[in-house]
Amino acid sequence: MKKNIAVLAGDGIGPEVTQQAVKVLNAIAERYEHHFFYKSAEVGAIAIDKTGDPLPKTTLDLCLNADAVLFGAIGHPKYDNDPSAKVRPEQGLLRLRKGLGLFANIRPVATYSSLLHLSPLRPERVKGADFVIFRELTGGIYFGEKERGETSASDLCVYHKFEIERIARLAFAAAMRRRKKLTLVDKANVLETSRLWREVVQQMASEYPEVAVDYMFVDNAAMQMIQWPTQFDVVLTENMFGDILSDEASVIAGSMGLLPSASIGENTALFEPIHGSYPQAAGQDIANPMAAILSGAMMLEHFGLGEEAETIRKTVRYVLEKGMGTAELDLQHSFTCSQTGDLIAHLISDGTDLKIDHQQISERTSTII
Ligand code: IPM
Ligand code: MG
Repeated sequence: MKKNIAVLAGDGIGPEVTQQAVKVLNAIAERYEHHFFYKSAEVGAIAIDKTGDPLPKTTLDLCLNADAVLFGAIGHPKYDNDPSAKVRPEQGLLRLRKGLGLFANIRPVATYSSLLHLSPLRPERVKGADFVIFRELTGGIYFGEKERGETSASDLCVYHKFEIERIARLAFAAAMRRRKKLTLVDKANVLETSRLWREVVQQMASEYPEVAVDYMFVDNAAMQMIQWPTQFDVVLTENMFGDILSDEASVIAGSMGLLPSASIGENTALFEPIHGSYPQAAGQDIANPMAAILSGAMMLEHFGLGEEAETIRKTVRYVLEKGMGTAELDLQHSFTCSQTGDLIAHLISDGTDLKIDHQQISERTSTII
């Protein structure tokens, strides 16, 4: 298979983790005889520095013409601390979402037994948690009309039926492939938009009789997610609630550095780790590249390369189970960002049955790192 991939590494740790994802994708390409062609473009703070625009037209065009976008991270503290900045890196991401019509953001939350100790929750509560959040990504309060007066401000939240239907279809389809449970999270006791979400999803539910649908107010869902995370399978929600809940969900697994995401919609799909640009760690080769690498797996899945995607996931799981990973995971063997990428790529090239010699690894004499 031949695919053109736009690489938007972005800011902070974005470039170093994306580089590891590319390394791993190349190992897959070699093993399964695919051809992936990469073209890079700038986005975020780095694009502002160079061009004054967080999403230059050449970047959007490259993405529109690619088969998929591999995205790193954006953001820089100089903008976070300046609410009056008119041009901000995040605008690049929001415009990219709109420009590519990425209406569905899909964030799976999986747990790894070797990392349960990192979860802020008690291990018996998180063990086996395995759910996926479908967050609407191009509507709602993020994109409604904004107004600013002298002493007041407003952000309008608007949803149209078609915007709810198209993401709900994807969420129902995912539920059918999974454990056949879908939870719509809204605030239908207060918000009109939420009542529309509920109405539309209730109507659609009859088309999927095998899927058990339940409805949960967002405040309750925020609580349930930490109290009893294993109850969820597919969680469907609007843009802002999804932003908040997906960050909450991301810590359940123990490390943000492990969670990938896919954004899909009308044009080219985009794959990115859910963590941010983590500027404090930029350039130090300490960031965890696994979320970026697993985002690559989601991209392969999207191309229909299920076996290849599974090879990446299995290899990451294997590495973690053998007690290896970046330092923040606090495992027996700690690796740098690039060593982690090398290790995973090497295991994939050699076949996942490769035996790892722990002695050599702790002495750093193994040829695989
Ligand atoms: C995310 C981020 C973005 C969002 C920011 C960077 C605009 O938090 O992808 O979840 O709020 O959607
Ligand atoms: Mg967010």
